[in-house]
Amino acid sequence: MRRKLAAGNWKMNGTLAALGEVDSLALAAQGAAEVLVCPPFPLIAPAAGRVPGVAIGGQTCHPETSGAFTGEVSAGMLADVGASYVILGHSERREMFDEHDDHIRARCRAAWQAGLKVILCIGETEAQRDAQNTLDILGGQMAGSIPDGATGHNLVVAYEPIWAIGTGRTATPDQIGEVHDFIRARLERRFGAGVGRSTRLLYGGSVKPGNAAEIFAVSNVDGALVGGASLKSADFILIIDALNAASD
Ligand code: PGA
Repeated sequence: MRRKLAAGNWKMNGTLAALGEVDSLALAAQGAAEVLVCPPFPLIAPAAGRVPGVAIGGQTCHPETSGAFTGEVSAGMLADVGASYVILGHSERREMFDEHDDHIRARCRAAWQAGLKVILCIGETEAQRDAQNTLDILGGQMAGSIPDGATGHNLVVAYEPIWAIGTGRTATPDQIGEVHDFIRARLERRFGAGVGRSTRLLYGGSVKPGNAAEIFAVSNVDGALVGGASLKSADFILIIDALNAASD
């Protein structure tokens, strides 16, 4: 049985005043679905443990444990201040910060060593989809960025079509279903049926209160990675509620 997961990715948004948005999730976080907020680094310590049922995560981590890497944060540091998850390989990290599959694989290993669960993001560009290369691209990203040793406990895979992130465009249920079935089959082939079937698969890309229920009805969708709509608790709560309803 895979516990559904509603994960909010705040990206570079939020100051201490935004912690009130985490507080507002208290009731929604008592349902069947797991609730996670990934705020910017400075908010992780004050957010962690603040609201029962709301887990806290980082948005990236460095592969090394410590050292002369100005500006970076290690997985152990995230765990030390109360994070239990880290998002890795988000398309914004891949594109703007030049993170490639081999970097992401190293970060993932470091996160697992520190005891963090990883939300590993994969996704195709619009041009890649138009050229009918979507599954090849995603299969390559999975092979390159997921290290050996994945389990249903330490790994969550998020499918985030790049053309749907922050654009208001969502993939159709058919498109999401095709990709999620493919991801699960790939996980089963590489890690065995037990791991493949127990790993949670999230959809991300313009998930909103208005489309959440339709997305959560797609087979092999175990939750969502939510950007913009996770910044306002009123919207995120409606998405969590839709996931709680889909868990019944
Ligand atoms: P969005 O972002 O929900 O604002 O499209 C999703 C993400 O980047 O994880």
